[in-house]
Amino acid sequence: MTKEGLHDLLEVMSLEEKVGQMNQLSGSFFNPSASVTGPIEGKKFARESISLCGSVLGLMGTKTVKKVQKEYLENHPHKIPLLFMMDVINGYKTIFPIPLAQGASFAPKLAGHCARIAAKEAAADGLHVTFSPMTDLVWDARWGRVMESTGEDPYLNGRFAEAMVKGYQGNGFDRPYAMAACVKHFAGYGAPEAGRDYNTVELSQHTLRQFYLPAYEAGIHAGAALTMASFNTLEGIPATGNLWLMREVLRKEIGFEGVLISDWSAIEEMISHGYCADRKEAALRAVMAGVDIDMMSGVYAEHLVRLVREGQVAETLIDEAVMRILKLKNNLGLFENPYPDSDENEASRLFLCQEHREFARKAARESFVLLKNDGILPLAGEKKTAFIGPYVGSQNLIGSWSLTGDVKDVTTLKKALLEQGPNQDMAFAQGSPMLDEMMDLEGFHERQKENFTPGEQEKMLKEAIDAAKRAEVVVMALGEDRLQSGEATSNANIQIPKVQQVLLEEVSKSNENVIVVLFSGRPLDIRNIVQKAKAILQVWLPGTEGARAIVDVLFGEYNPSGKLPMAFPYCVGQVPIHYNSYPTGRPHIPGKDKDRFRSKYLDIPNEPLFPFGYGLSYTCFSISPVMLSKKDMIKGGCIEASVMVKNIGSVKGTETLQLYIHDLAASVVRPVKELKGFCKVELKPGEARKVCFSITEKELRFLTGNGRVESEEGEFEVYIGNSSSTDNKARFMLGCRR
Ligand code: BGC
Repeated sequence: MTKEGLHDLLEVMSLEEKVGQMNQLSGSFFNPSASVTGPIEGKKFARESISLCGSVLGLMGTKTVKKVQKEYLENHPHKIPLLFMMDVINGYKTIFPIPLAQGASFAPKLAGHCARIAAKEAAADGLHVTFSPMTDLVWDARWGRVMESTGEDPYLNGRFAEAMVKGYQGNGFDRPYAMAACVKHFAGYGAPEAGRDYNTVELSQHTLRQFYLPAYEAGIHAGAALTMASFNTLEGIPATGNLWLMREVLRKEIGFEGVLISDWSAIEEMISHGYCADRKEAALRAVMAGVDIDMMSGVYAEHLVRLVREGQVAETLIDEAVMRILKLKNNLGLFENPYPDSDENEASRLFLCQEHREFARKAARESFVLLKNDGILPLAGEKKTAFIGPYVGSQNLIGSWSLTGDVKDVTTLKKALLEQGPNQDMAFAQGSPMLDEMMDLEGFHERQKENFTPGEQEKMLKEAIDAAKRAEVVVMALGEDRLQSGEATSNANIQIPKVQQVLLEEVSKSNENVIVVLFSGRPLDIRNIVQKAKAILQVWLPGTEGARAIVDVLFGEYNPSGKLPMAFPYCVGQVPIHYNSYPTGRPHIPGKDKDRFRSKYLDIPNEPLFPFGYGLSYTCFSISPVMLSKKDMIKGGCIEASVMVKNIGSVKGTETLQLYIHDLAASVVRPVKELKGFCKVELKPGEARKVCFSITEKELRFLTGNGRVESEEGEFEVYIGNSSSTDNKARFMLGCRR
């Protein structure tokens, strides 16, 4: 439809119809097969608000979507098609590693391709919008949703946000398989106090701008069609009704012109926050802040018409919101064809096809992080090996947000080993339940509760110990259950379930050659595992083909190259923790632990167990001292910072060189290090390459004491290394030396 056409349409729409466009309902009001992704008890909607609602979430399947769309259009006064939205997070039917794992690949392009495949499968199944990427910055592993983020760093998250948005949308809704992306949750949702989901967020504007906004901004500037408001408060005001945040920051400063959608029921929840007295006020506050779509609270449907008629809300405000929604429908081509890519044959051709499965395997391989290796990995193949642990035979390798995926499509580690493993002499034992007794977890479509009698548990443990005794090497597949991370899964204890710790303890008493393959949706406290295992491979929740990827890595078919996108803390007492912290007036100095008046703990180190950017390989790399093309930079100039990196081991491998910058003195204190670039290089044994980063004045800008984003003259440190703890640095000056 032309621009004029859209305006003409808006002109003839009744106020009720316009408000209908701003109302989004769960698919369960249209079809019982819908996925329900939020609290629904007691939710009731008037017939009219259902028949006029502009978009639906959680409904999928070509037949279902077509039927709902057709019936809806038959009754809609102006035949404006519904938008079908859904959380397509790390894949649709082919499930990729969780986003945090994708972050560990340090390969945004890879994540972009995962998003493209997900968009294809989802669009073929009738969907138009995905509520992804989640670009929230995360520093607290207690928060279960860290699994949905790409980690602790604003720069890294920004690169992934761009790539994912472009992956879903292509260059402006590429056909076929057009899908719109939604950057969420604006803003600061990743910083709930004490890591408890939905809790209060306390961020200074400085921290918000310095750390949290950049990734949302990157996703939005990459063209994301939607942004989702977050559940939390910012400066005491829920984001959903936060005029300053939405009108000033999101719309004016960042320049977002797309559709702003609330999170599930979040408009209504402003009453529980204590910000609005009733539903009418909630509707008023949200619409004034510029929230275009009310997801599942129904307050717009209930109150907006009246608010306009009473003169409390200008109809022009409604028109602006509706026009943004109509534009989105138009950009997706829905007026010409309300079922654009939905095609049953196409869907079954695409779902879990060979190409998609192979890419899922590749993505998983690249996301694994080798945390420890005393030379025991890769496995030689001829050794007698026991594979022990609840993850050996489990299909639960997909993250909790993979609500469209089916665990039945997942290859288990045991199956992958039997099919791919070069080792003929393998034994398998579950060893323990996945979860501690009394643990009862709930997902979107399933419950996870195990019922093993003490006798059965004893038997399992004994079988595992016997298998360990007979083996030369033991690979233990341990970790959190997939439903232990995700939305509403905060944990005060970030260790693997106790029952698995006991298994590790007992097995390691029987065999000293223990390798742990660790599954989790978050960084864990793994001090105990580090003590007992000779090698640890962090595999996150690796998706449909994750098990095949694990076998590739265990037997050296693929040399691991992932790097942590989020630190593994020493223990939970350290969180929130992140490498890009401020120096403090009494910084901790390594080796000076006895100095009394320093910023330190008495009982644990300051450093995490494994820092951001860390990850080993089966080979070793040497990195030369940092070389700078100049020692001074003038504004508008550029400095080349480089290192020589050499593979000094005996197998081919990939190293990720990371560039960090530190501004030594500024009008506002600067982080000790900030990631400004990274580069992956694959090298054959003995091969060396020069890796070069260009630093311009732009990389040195920050929010200064003047309230402007600009650089300040002075001295800078440049680090290049293979983790955030690198000490490999050089110095240069911006501006003239005095
Ligand atoms: C989550 C969102 C999600 C929405 C719809 C909410 O509970 O916070 O991230 O997109 O539900 O499923």
